[in-house]
Amino acid sequence: MTKHADPNLGALVRARRAGRSLPAALYTGAEAFEADCATFFERQWTLVAVEADVPSADGTFVVDFARASVVLARGDDGALRGFHNVCRHRGARLRDAGKATGRRITCPYHHWTYGLDGALIRAPHMGTDFDASCHGLRPVHLRTVGGLVFVSLADGPPADFADLEAAMGPRLAPYGLARAKIAHESVIVEEGNWKLTMENNRECYHCAGSHPELGKTFLPQDFGYDPDELSPAKRAVADGHLALFARKTRAWEEAGWPSAPIEHLVGHDTNFRTERLMMGEGGVARSATMDGKPACRVPLGDVGDADVGDLHFWTHHSWHHLMADHAVVTMAHPISPERTRVRTVWLVNAKAREGVDYDRENLVRVWTATNSQDAALVARAQAGVRTPGYSPGPYSRFTERHLDDFATWYVDRLLAAGH
Ligand code: FES
Ligand SMILES: [Fe+2]
Repeated sequence: MTKHADPNLGALVRARRAGRSLPAALYTGAEAFEADCATFFERQWTLVAVEADVPSADGTFVVDFARASVVLARGDDGALRGFHNVCRHRGARLRDAGKATGRRITCPYHHWTYGLDGALIRAPHMGTDFDASCHGLRPVHLRTVGGLVFVSLADGPPADFADLEAAMGPRLAPYGLARAKIAHESVIVEEGNWKLTMENNRECYHCAGSHPELGKTFLPQDFGYDPDELSPAKRAVADGHLALFARKTRAWEEAGWPSAPIEHLVGHDTNFRTERLMMGEGGVARSATMDGKPACRVPLGDVGDADVGDLHFWTHHSWHHLMADHAVVTMAHPISPERTRVRTVWLVNAKAREGVDYDRENLVRVWTATNSQDAALVARAQAGVRTPGYSPGPYSRFTERHLDDFATWYVDRLLAAGH
């Protein structure tokens, strides 16, 4: 049992029944929150930024997540590094969340000053025997995958993150996200536990009733739906659709666009899932816009005018849509047991000009509306879960398979951590 392990939490984890949502205290309790922070956001690799958040060697980007705060900085050598956002003098928080410029990081308290490589370069009145070289900023592990920035605070981060890198590196590479620019970003504080945010994201059972904008191009039947339960008439339509989807996937693969689903969660440390989906009925749409047409005239990276659908990618706390003309990257970071910060970044080719090559309102409309609708659903779910009337309910095996997988993975990881 780890030093964080809590016997009550262990009983709660073991009480989870397969095929059902989690016991209430795992969505509401302080013990579960502490364990989640330690296991899923400090030890696990956590997506904290896109490379465009720190585009040059004179800036920093601070991100708070779970109990942690990390400062990202790009050195003169171009390398991106991550450090705990904590002064090595008496532990003051160095910088507030968000972007800042400057080639030095100066603690506001007693003005110890660090370089962007983390070295302590000024510490007044500490005496001639003070060894500044022992008091540089504490680094965190950092990896970039296709322009996405992950950190781990663990001494030994999960090694099977290499599987994610191997799968997603080639899938993300053509989109050139490391060279893209942020066209728009949004932050929503959802009134719900981070797992409810993720459960909501991993099913489209709710889509038809809640997401009119997303529904223009997003096909719920491709998202974990099992056609076996359908009536014969609906089944025939679904079969036709699935046959087209299978042909599309084969064509993408043959054209050098890896597309087949990969599910890497139950039985693994690192949680990720990816699949390329077609957009719009018959696969005719090209982008998550109201009319299905590209929102940006300049394609991302090296995609050119290829029909590449929507490359989906999830981790345990983030989701991503990569289309030919833009990408939408969303990361969910717990704030407290019942609050989650959801940051979404819209990326376009750095050469694209706002108002000329893309209209920002058009670019962001679908996912702005969808995020807002989802935030309301998550708050509603949390509001019910925290009342005495809640008991874990059944996931649909036809539409909520990904939730059951997620909950199973979550419980397994807590058990593996000694709870
Ligand atoms: S706590 Fe940072 S300089 Fe004193
Ligand atoms: Fe949704």
